[in-house]
Amino acid sequence: MDQLAKLEDLPQEYRDNLEKLNLVPLWPSLRDVLPPETPQPKTKPIMWPYDTLRPLLMQAGDLTPIEKAERRVLVLSNPGHGLENMRATPVMYLGMQLLLPGEWAPSHRHTPNAIRMIVEGNDAYTTVNGQKCPMERGDLILTPTGMWHEHSHEGTEPVVWLDVLDLPLVYFMEASYVEPFGEHQDINGVAANTAYGPGIVPTPVFTRQNPTNPLLRFAWKDARKALENMAASQPDAKSIQVTYINPETGSDCQNIIGFSSLMLRPNETLTLPLRSSAMVFHVIEGQVEIQTTDNNFNMKQADTSCVPCFAPVTLVNKNSDQPTFIFIADESPVQKKLGLYSERPNNK
Ligand SMILES: [Fe+2]
Repeated sequence: MDQLAKLEDLPQEYRDNLEKLNLVPLWPSLRDVLPPETPQPKTKPIMWPYDTLRPLLMQAGDLTPIEKAERRVLVLSNPGHGLENMRATPVMYLGMQLLLPGEWAPSHRHTPNAIRMIVEGNDAYTTVNGQKCPMERGDLILTPTGMWHEHSHEGTEPVVWLDVLDLPLVYFMEASYVEPFGEHQDINGVAANTAYGPGIVPTPVFTRQNPTNPLLRFAWKDARKALENMAASQPDAKSIQVTYINPETGSDCQNIIGFSSLMLRPNETLTLPLRSSAMVFHVIEGQVEIQTTDNNFNMKQADTSCVPCFAPVTLVNKNSDQPTFIFIADESPVQKKLGLYSERPNNK
């Protein structure tokens, strides 16, 4: 592909005249915005070990009362995008949030979609549009766009969870804002839909309360059991993975980011296809080595990492006698809706 003329090749007077009229020549930037064959991501492969960030998160609990933080979060920020921009990937924001016993993070709602993946602690709960969602390690709790949510803690030990939001995309679209509620929501008596699963349709009353996202809590014990059943019943399956969906539509449980859990069988090595969307990995149980571009991440329980689009990814279970369970967030739902998603073979 031919080298194109640079901005400096143009006379300064011409460049000044363009700038005065808010005009920009395309050709000096054409190869940057349309690189040949493959995107040139800013996203770097990064790992955030939990045992290094946890002390700083606990310190935040001492330094900043919840009333002065509203949400006490350390953001897992990718230096490739600039730390101040608080992006893990182009679309995904990651944060580790701490709630101490007796604390309450007040109710609000906002345009970005959020999920919580519970990392440690017991007896906290999120209330979403009046539904009480208990938080236990490995549970996935949704707080979709526009739904009121608050966090409460009735236990005795700190509770930590991983937040995943589509904030970078929604902010880029100049569509990001929050509405405070400030008071406790009334818990409306509907159970945290723990009994609601695929093929079980909620009653009309329940549907009217929350027509777009009927299932807000995915218990880890259910997802883990599904993975174990799949591994037992499909021993030849290339990968053991379950996707969290909206059971009424059969589609991804949120519009922009997709969520799944993957089980690596003892000693298993799994090479993923190259994907056009960035991915986030979080270890729920076990130990995994993630081999990717110029990096090998040795991850254990509660560690989190990300890789950019089209990065080679090979997952190696470091346990020889136990499975490893990994939570995955990726940008494929929004890419598919926009017709941008593709996969390529990983020739490793
Ligand atoms: Fe929120």
